[in-house]
Amino acid sequence: QFPYTSVDALGHELKDCVVLVRGTAQTVRAVGKKMAFIVLRDGWSTVQCVVAEKQGVVSKGMVKFVAALSRESVVDVEGVISVPEVAITGATQQVEIQVTKLYCISKASPNLPFNLEDAARSDAEIEEQQLVRVNQDTRLNFRYFDLRTPANQAIFQIQSEVSRIFGEFLRSEGFREIHTPKLIAGSSEGGSAVFHLDYKGQAACLAQSPQLHKQMAIAGRFRRVFEIGPVFRAEDSFTHRHLCEFTGLDVEMEIKKHYFEVMDILDQLFVKMFNTLKSECSNELEAIARQYPFEPLKYLEKTLRLPFQEGIEMLKADGVDVDPLGDLNTATERRLGQLVREKYGTDFYILYRYPLAVRPFYTMPCYDDSNYSNSFDVFIRGEEIISGAQRVHVPEFLTERAQACGIDVSTIKTYIDAFRYGTPPHGGFGVGLERVVMLYCALNNIRKTSLFPRDPTRIAP
Ligand code: 4AD
Repeated sequence: QFPYTSVDALGHELKDCVVLVRGTAQTVRAVGKKMAFIVLRDGWSTVQCVVAEKQGVVSKGMVKFVAALSRESVVDVEGVISVPEVAITGATQQVEIQVTKLYCISKASPNLPFNLEDAARSDAEIEEQQLVRVNQDTRLNFRYFDLRTPANQAIFQIQSEVSRIFGEFLRSEGFREIHTPKLIAGSSEGGSAVFHLDYKGQAACLAQSPQLHKQMAIAGRFRRVFEIGPVFRAEDSFTHRHLCEFTGLDVEMEIKKHYFEVMDILDQLFVKMFNTLKSECSNELEAIARQYPFEPLKYLEKTLRLPFQEGIEMLKADGVDVDPLGDLNTATERRLGQLVREKYGTDFYILYRYPLAVRPFYTMPCYDDSNYSNSFDVFIRGEEIISGAQRVHVPEFLTERAQACGIDVSTIKTYIDAFRYGTPPHGGFGVGLERVVMLYCALNNIRKTSLFPRDPTRIAP
């Protein structure tokens, strides 16, 4: 028995070797009665398999069986690797398998939800060949099937790498992984975007972030913590970048002297992440770019840190009307992203020292000017992927800030009390996993990077 070889490992060096491969029959084509071709897909790689009648090896009956295989059936193929003289255009691998044995492991229904090859085409191909694009809703209704396209396989491999690098880097810097509750008594970010529920007769909600509990872990004298977990936001508008449930990558840490220590960690983490993706995930990135062409992310080895006020001045100089003590909207953030790219040559940067009025109640004001705060947002290609800050760790001041922000302090009493028994200055940040992958790959919709997206009208599959 041979071990299985994955399709992406099939190359010229295996010429004349016998291989055993499991894959999905992407296309099946018969040429007369003596020959059939299968394009076999495995992840984002495909290989052409040739089934040709040959006495004592491949019978006419076998060719007939192969020709009748339904697309998307799972098959095991055994055969010899050959290198055709002309370049192969219909598959990613530049070798063929001359099949000697084939077993159908799982038969697909002949009525597929949509044509997967069409769903895997780029916009340019669709236009050139005047095809009809498979509608996004149809794709999402059959998401488990849609996930089979090479680009989707690669997107979720990248997503998996991003969380792996996040966890590995933080552990190596002394962070402990924690798991905070998702059923909580009050909102954690304020505002209206909360899913309310009945907790055995008591009003409760789904956590909008691990914010309050990751801080309480710091009150428990965990020096540095991180969490990868679900975050719930009852968004009521449709945008390309908001989901009702997403995966939050959260960090919280003691601050020794200055909240820039939090930005230092963030900077090292993301530069490490981008370097690793570039060096270790080139096949995945190519597979994504084949369907969704994109320009690689421009970033600096030391991330640009731009004061909010400087950002406002850049926008004003460009003729954009912005409130210096207000928040940026999607359009101004995008414009600033372009201006930063032109001036500093980067698509990834930190904007810090935001006006206090636009940040959540738990944010620490700047010591030198309380109109501003020790906070920051991080952008990729002009869109926010992270927000972070130093937190108020003094209970009396936290109460004052919550009241000033119109929050009913009784709903966050246990949180405020947590800081009464000695808690060091601390800060952290929250990253949206789906947003990072979407913007790193310059995809146009967050639903593409969410495994089973939840939006204001979608809760299935
Ligand atoms: O900016 P947000 O709301 O910040 C917090 O949750 C803070 N507790 C974080 C902190 O430690 N200060 O959310 C953090 C990130 C955003 O930058 C964005 O990437 C993502 O979470 N995010 C969403 N992603 C998808 N859909 C939504 N509705 C999102 N809302 C926020």
